[in-house]
Amino acid sequence: MNFQHAITRLPGSNFAEGLTTAQMGSPDYSLTLHQHQAYCQALQQCGLQLTELGPLEDYPDSTFIEDVAVLLPGCAVITRPGASSRQGEIEQIRPLLSERFPRLEAIQAPGTMDGGDICEAGSHFFIGISHRTNEEGARQLAAILGSLGFTASTVDIRQEREILHLKSGIACLEGGRLVLIPSLSGRAEFVGWPRVVTTEEEAYGANCVQVNDFVLMASGFPRLQKDLLDLGYHPLVLDMSEYRKMDGGLSCLSLRY
Ligand code: GLY
Repeated sequence: MNFQHAITRLPGSNFAEGLTTAQMGSPDYSLTLHQHQAYCQALQQCGLQLTELGPLEDYPDSTFIEDVAVLLPGCAVITRPGASSRQGEIEQIRPLLSERFPRLEAIQAPGTMDGGDICEAGSHFFIGISHRTNEEGARQLAAILGSLGFTASTVDIRQEREILHLKSGIACLEGGRLVLIPSLSGRAEFVGWPRVVTTEEEAYGANCVQVNDFVLMASGFPRLQKDLLDLGYHPLVLDMSEYRKMDGGLSCLSLRY
């Protein structure tokens, strides 16, 4: 949870043409940019040095840059996104990560993986098996994690209708406390983990992210915000309305290391 750097990518003008199931209307581009700017400022407020990449007009979902890599100590793993329209995004991040990380790995076919399915919880990683990340992708990442001394387990979310990625419904905060949506809170995979469970109405808020001393969270979830404050966390609240329309969460908008 102790990060020094973040990488973001500006949304392109065709952001509204990206993948979505949300049925919440089309995003307003100028508001999308405004929210992105506020997000980047929040990362800087958390003490991160920011690398802001330019938009990729060929890839309307590419602002969700977390999906193209999993960043580990001294090792970057390029993913293999599960949606065919997103697979070309990985070539756009490879040069930068190869400059920044001494070890570069990549998920290989037939493995698929979106970074939004990977939840770091201290020395353990939960890997979501979703409609984007398959078991072969998870197996490859678990082997890389094992070589670095981390453990991993999988969580099959393919029946979880409300979430795209595992991290749409779970976050791990400082101290190993999980934020979980109600349908994940009863799962055997999370037995024994301290937790905060959102209400059904506030499920979108579970996609929050601890960045150093702060927890970045979406606005509009007062109960979760109060729970986090009562537990001693410092929420930094951001309007994510336009990203939510595109099935996106705030964790997906940056790569942090
Ligand atoms: N719109 C985000 C995604 O589907 O990957």
